[in-house]
Amino acid sequence: MLIGIGISLAVLSVVWIGWNFTLDALWQPTDRATVGSILSLAQIKRGETVVDLGCGDGRIVITAARAFGAEGVGIEIDPVRVLWARTAALLAGVRKHVRILWKNMYKVDLYDADIVILFLSSAANLKLQDKLLRELPQGARIVSYYHPMLGWKPDRVEIAKTGYSMYLYRIPKNQGIE
Ligand SMILES: C[S@@+](CC[C@H](N)C(=O)[O-])C[C@H]1O[C@@H](n2cnc3c(N)ncnc32)[C@H](O)[C@@H]1O
Repeated sequence: MLIGIGISLAVLSVVWIGWNFTLDALWQPTDRATVGSILSLAQIKRGETVVDLGCGDGRIVITAARAFGAEGVGIEIDPVRVLWARTAALLAGVRKHVRILWKNMYKVDLYDADIVILFLSSAANLKLQDKLLRELPQGARIVSYYHPMLGWKPDRVEIAKTGYSMYLYRIPKNQGIE
């Protein structure tokens, strides 16, 4: 019985790890000090909606709600991390201000987002570019950690304590980012 459970868990773990390698961005959490820097760069105002595409354990949206008074929406495709992030939001006391959605980031609506945070990959950023331009309202900000948006001119670039860059983009009035 125990051996059966052990083998099943081992098989599930192998499948889960293998499936993670098919994603456009593997899980790598942003270090805690950099989370604050990313959110400061985004210039969040109280009550704004901050969406983290590929939210992992939810640390960015949880900090956005707790330290910046934002409404956080974390989008995550991995059900294990969704559960983890929901638990973390509960333990952090921000469950009312943080929603963690088990969804594919390429298929969620972004029309209500004021700020989008990305820590993904060059390929994922490239795939998201049209969607961001189409769906985000004018004045919305995007902060991408580590990976710039190909062909877009950042409003600002700052270097995190890790030595990696954080790129701030803004959806301008009446036109897309060039
Ligand atoms: C580098 S981690 C970043 C985690 C978190 N944003 C942070 O900064 O700590 C990338 C995350 O994106 C998730 N991801 C990859 N592809 C995704 C997709 N199509 N939809 C939603 N989440 C995705 C991964 O599961 C992983 O948790």
